[in-house]
Amino acid sequence: MTKVITIINHKGGTGKTTTTINLGKALQLKNYRVLLIDFDPQANLSQSLGQFQPESSIYASIIENKPLHIISIAENFSLIPAELNLAEAESKLLTHPEGYYRLKSVLDPTRESYDFILIDCPPSLALLTFNACFASTHVLIPVQSQFLATQGLHTIIDLLKTVQTGFINPNLRLLGLFLTMTERTVLSQSIAESLGKEYGKKLLNTVIRKNIALAECPAVGQDIFTYAPHSNGATDYQKLAEEVLTRLELDSK
Ligand SMILES: Nc1ncnc2c1ncn2[C@@H]1O[C@H](COP(=O)(O)OP(=O)(O)O)[C@@H](O)[C@H]1O
Ligand SMILES: [Mg+2]
Repeated sequence: MTKVITIINHKGGTGKTTTTINLGKALQLKNYRVLLIDFDPQANLSQSLGQFQPESSIYASIIENKPLHIISIAENFSLIPAELNLAEAESKLLTHPEGYYRLKSVLDPTRESYDFILIDCPPSLALLTFNACFASTHVLIPVQSQFLATQGLHTIIDLLKTVQTGFINPNLRLLGLFLTMTERTVLSQSIAESLGKEYGKKLLNTVIRKNIALAECPAVGQDIFTYAPHSNGATDYQKLAEEVLTRLELDSK
């Protein structure tokens, strides 16, 4: 069954977009069929894959009922891009009869063509993020290894509970939280320890180290495995993919 993983954190700059691309690519390299969805009006995911002015985007599908605009980036690695107009979708969805589950509706017919669909969310917990959660089977939360970065995580967990409650999407699972941009500092270490205490097994073992190649690759429109296959960034995202696969396997038992 297709796993739809939403990558959320209402803070900006926590590594959501970087994770969507590179976790997605790591899964494609393991021979899974992967679709990425840019669901952030800033369109960083699309731009990071060289898509600056796509002919159409996710907005056209959810608001104008147009067919999904799926761009093939590589074999088994596709993207539905976003554009700035996605910002207008928030208010339009408010009055749409399918407001909260519009993304789910438009994805359902194509869902089974992929093993993994990864959704890159905006830095907010508003209607777009709700739509992503309703369309998903799992949620993954990147946490930046920085002072105060762990503040507000409860808000995300509360949102998950809201979505899981009742008939909305009771099957949504928290796949886990993981640290990004870690450094070999006392601060990084103490953030990891406090997250571990608070979230226990929900904190993944994998950490994504701060790595300059990860920050460079969007500028050339590439994923880390193409741009710098021997970098720490490539090693860490490969580990993340392996841990995600192990957890999904355990989850289904
Ligand atoms: N592990 C990392 N090491 C160094 N830079 C990173 C790392 N992860 C992300 N970045 C950079 O940090 C910035 C924010 O990351 P991004 O993935 O865009 O976050 P978000 O999507 O949550 O706003 C980007 O410039 C990105 O290239
Ligand atoms: Mg982003």
